[in-house]
Amino acid sequence: MDSNKKIYLAPLEGVTDSIFRNTFKKYFGGVDKYYTPFISPNSTFKFTTREFKDIDPEKNDINTTVPQLLTNKAEHFLWAAGEIASLGFKEINFNLGCPSGTVVAKKKGSGLLYYPEELDSMLYEIFAGLKNDIQVSIKTRLGKLESDEFYEILEIYNKYPISELTIHPRVQKDFYREPIHPDFFQYAYSNAKAPLVFNGDVKTISDIDDTFNNYPLINAVMIGRGLISNPKLALEFKKVQRTNP
Ligand SMILES: Cc1cc2nc3c(=O)[nH]c(=O)nc-3n(C[C@H](O)[C@H](O)[C@H](O)COP(=O)(O)O)c2cc1C
Repeated sequence: MDSNKKIYLAPLEGVTDSIFRNTFKKYFGGVDKYYTPFISPNSTFKFTTREFKDIDPEKNDINTTVPQLLTNKAEHFLWAAGEIASLGFKEINFNLGCPSGTVVAKKKGSGLLYYPEELDSMLYEIFAGLKNDIQVSIKTRLGKLESDEFYEILEIYNKYPISELTIHPRVQKDFYREPIHPDFFQYAYSNAKAPLVFNGDVKTISDIDDTFNNYPLINAVMIGRGLISNPKLALEFKKVQRTNP
């Protein structure tokens, strides 16, 4: 296996704040990128104190931390992207996966996936309006109600220069417990233009190995709960990778 495979820490609201991320990095590590829990830019055009604290460059490594945005307005996204770029970050992640009822009711997170035309025009405005040299990645589910919504969603994603597309192969109504739909990740693997990242239920070294063996062209796996329950997982994977390149 390519010995340069990457592990990303998934954003977990209420868990993976900057204190968690810095402590994790100091005592465990093995993670190549740390995604922040979502920030919700709005018409105040200001970060809250708590939001700014979580992306303050004095408390974060700007090269390995990726701030995540949750919004359904390109104007709010672009404002936050400009601020985040000016702080020195290299990448911003767009949350199109959050399944929470209150978020979805506002047509945000995975709620926006149910409105493909709005999703498309928002992405058009974002990529047309980005002023800074910052990469935009996306973290997505397959849809809201049925996995086959994903065919149209992927066609939309394929129109834009998304730096990485992380797919959590569940729909909104699956939340975090229903079985994942690997056949739809496979569909994306064959049809997506953006580099893919797999996310969902990866908990052990053998799960990581299986993912990279099943999808040999992907470079990264994003892990949430697996790294919370075993914070040594990424480091152990990197050690095995170095021993058996
Ligand atoms: C408590 C909790 C909070 C989460 N917060 C976020 C979030 O802020 N942004 C996001 O994109 N995903 C969020 N997620 C989803 C995770 O990033 C991840 O996609 C999900 O847990 C599946 O990956 P895993 O099986 O490796 O944990 C959250 C999940 C949980 C359980």
